[in-house]
Amino acid sequence: MIKKITLSLAVAALAITAKAQDYTPLKQIIGDDFYIGVAINPNQVSGNEDTKTILHNFTTITAENAMKPAGIIQADGSYNFTDADKIVNFAKENGLKMRGHTLCWHASIPRNYMKNADGTDLTKEELYAKHEKYIKAVFEHFPSDVVIYWDVVNEALNDGENEGRYRERSEWYRICGPEFISWAFKTARKYAPANVKLYYNDYNLVDPVKREKCYLMLKELVDSGVPIDGVGMQAHWSMDVTPAQIEESINRFASLGLDVQITEFDLTVYNSIHPPKASERQIVKYTLPYDVVEKAQADAYASYFKVLHENRDKISSVIFWNVNDASSWLGRGFAIRGRLDYPLLFDRENKPKAPFFSIENYYKSLK
Ligand code: G3I
Repeated sequence: MIKKITLSLAVAALAITAKAQDYTPLKQIIGDDFYIGVAINPNQVSGNEDTKTILHNFTTITAENAMKPAGIIQADGSYNFTDADKIVNFAKENGLKMRGHTLCWHASIPRNYMKNADGTDLTKEELYAKHEKYIKAVFEHFPSDVVIYWDVVNEALNDGENEGRYRERSEWYRICGPEFISWAFKTARKYAPANVKLYYNDYNLVDPVKREKCYLMLKELVDSGVPIDGVGMQAHWSMDVTPAQIEESINRFASLGLDVQITEFDLTVYNSIHPPKASERQIVKYTLPYDVVEKAQADAYASYFKVLHENRDKISSVIFWNVNDASSWLGRGFAIRGRLDYPLLFDRENKPKAPFFSIENYYKSLK
């Protein structure tokens, strides 16, 4: 018990005294396990404190929004790569690799993109032709020595046990049916340079019900020769997620011969951000002050990195969703309006938190 208290005091002291960048870079701690990355926006490449944190710690980046269809396709149908290019040029100048996110996602459809002028839906054939032009332009535009991975389809599955496998409400599904998924991978492969790897990306993939839906979908794609290289487990987790659950998902997907990536890692201090019922979204599970919750979060992060390290042969990238608690989509009050969260390794001043040092301690314990 005394040992435990001393340890947590030591962790707290480290967290308080460490200045921004005055600590071992995360990429050095992780070593060759996998690319270690972060999702960023164009304001974070200007040389500010966030830029310093990115360059100090990470080897790969994802554009949080700038490379989504809604970030590139304009209202008049033209393409604007300005924001995306800021991020890609930053990656190129600094020797970072990138994941492209994403080509087909129901939540990133430019206004009226799937409609005729009279408001009716495009036909499947018209939509395929329009989006093929887009996919071709994307692969011609971005340098394939920088953007080496792409999320081809994002979040096409339903969560619940009593729902069908696919998200029927999606515009993609409504117009094309489930075949849009294989269409997207085949079309991406047609234009993607050979070295670029193609992924299916989704959240909640540690949940046994959704894991199985995803496994069956991936198996069908692989068995029918659809060109897919891997699966992105988003990893917007809560502390209820167990290392065993994570390991089971990694093994299940890897058993199909697919690469696994942890693509959008963060750890809310509240209960799941994807609870079964919308009404449960407001439940605050961890009501203690954050400096107490931080210890539990630090332990959880260390236990997750243990499982990721032990399965590093199946995992090519682990990527945090946002740089610090201030820029986090959860910390900005996006998921629950007005509610702050503390889900990442760096605080609002870019100082490494207890979870950062618990990951460092785990890696030290291996030596
Ligand atoms: O850019 C405008 C800004 O001009 C305006 O003032 C502000 C007011 O609300 O909105 C800004 O755009 C928002 C943008 O985030 C930047 O903050 C959009 O409305 C908002 O829809 C957008 O949300 C993004 C969301 O995906 C939808 O695209 C989040 O930042 C982003 O973190 C989130 O990321 C997703 C992944 O792509 C897929 N997996 C889940 C993950 C979290 O939801």
